[in-house]
Amino acid sequence: MTEKQRVCVTGAGGYIGSWLIKYLLSRGYIVHGTVRDPGDEKNAHLKKLENAAENLILFKTDLFDLEGLCSAIAGCTGVFHVASFVPAFHDTVAEEEVTEPAITGTKNVMKACAAAKVKRVVVVSSIAAVVCNPKWHKDHPMDEECWSDPEFIRTLEGDFRYYLLAKTLAEREALEYNNKGNEFEVVTVCPSITIGPRLQSTINASSSLLLNLLKGSAESVEDATYHLVDVRDVAEALVLVYKNPEAKGRYICNSYTLKISALVEKMKSMYPRPNYPKRFTEAEEAPQKGDRMLSSEKLKRLGWNYKTLEETIVDSVICFEKTGDLPKPEAAAS
Ligand SMILES: NC(=O)c1ccc[n+]([C@@H]2O[C@H](COP(=O)([O-])OP(=O)(O)OC[C@H]3O[C@@H](n4cnc5c(N)ncnc54)[C@H](OP(=O)(O)O)[C@@H]3O)[C@@H](O)[C@H]2O)c1
Repeated sequence: MTEKQRVCVTGAGGYIGSWLIKYLLSRGYIVHGTVRDPGDEKNAHLKKLENAAENLILFKTDLFDLEGLCSAIAGCTGVFHVASFVPAFHDTVAEEEVTEPAITGTKNVMKACAAAKVKRVVVVSSIAAVVCNPKWHKDHPMDEECWSDPEFIRTLEGDFRYYLLAKTLAEREALEYNNKGNEFEVVTVCPSITIGPRLQSTINASSSLLLNLLKGSAESVEDATYHLVDVRDVAEALVLVYKNPEAKGRYICNSYTLKISALVEKMKSMYPRPNYPKRFTEAEEAPQKGDRMLSSEKLKRLGWNYKTLEETIVDSVICFEKTGDLPKPEAAAS
């Protein structure tokens, strides 16, 4: 019998990290998951995953703690670096609050990977590191050659630009390790806005997108274009690029591109609730606002497939009703 493969996942308790661990455990991997607080209720779901009792070991560490990361990664053949500070779009944050964990955290994870002599590292980047490039030809879908321009990002308004900057700089940092004479290969995956059911009890920034539309957090919204992908398809993409030795460089992971008004129309037809936004204002054309096409052809060529948007919406609503984030229709009507 072959020995089970041991891999480490940073940011184990988060939205994407949890689904990734679920899939890895279901496929027989032994998983070392890093969490900042193993005793926190928000990580309790991890121990309930199938095979977790035997095959999931949680390590308490922060991205700034190199020694802690070395302990978590020791003995692993592969690492999935998922952890990152992910602010909500309107949060007020300082630049270093977002960029420091991303850049120093990536450096520390890579140092720990080198020390442990791992074979393969998969880093979760984001389309934030792809789309902020005003020089890209408008009629040509953005592909893996397209990089966000840090100077352009700095000219944008709002603190969310620090997240765009952090993801761009951290992905560049990670891929540079391919040229540093290490034994391991780094592959990055750049998911678009990730939606779908969650495993963790607390809501994360991106899965509140559909919830806010259903609950009616705004009467009027800017009709920007959204690039969306299901969290389960992101987790599958991460396993796919990990397992496939042909996988090299970066991979855009996006399933749907549509205006927010079209998404609302679709949701309305499936769940006719009263609280959807009533008005859509015209969105200014800008690459960071999603008005360019994105290509996931490179990932599809590896065999990646994705769920229908309807399935993602249905499973999200089931999840929101189960967690109590959204009242069930009969409760909402009474
Ligand atoms: N969700 C999306 O739409 C989306 C799209 C593209 C890319 N991504 C990327 O996907 C990854 C996961 O995002 P997510 O949506 O799953 O976010 P999430 O649910 O907020 O999870 C983030 C995880 O990172 C951990 N973390 C944050 N700061 C840390 C630090 N200093 N040290 C150690 N751990 C730290 C968090 O731990 P705590 O629980 O202790 O805070 C949490 O487990 C991130 O790299 C994000 O940039 C997300």
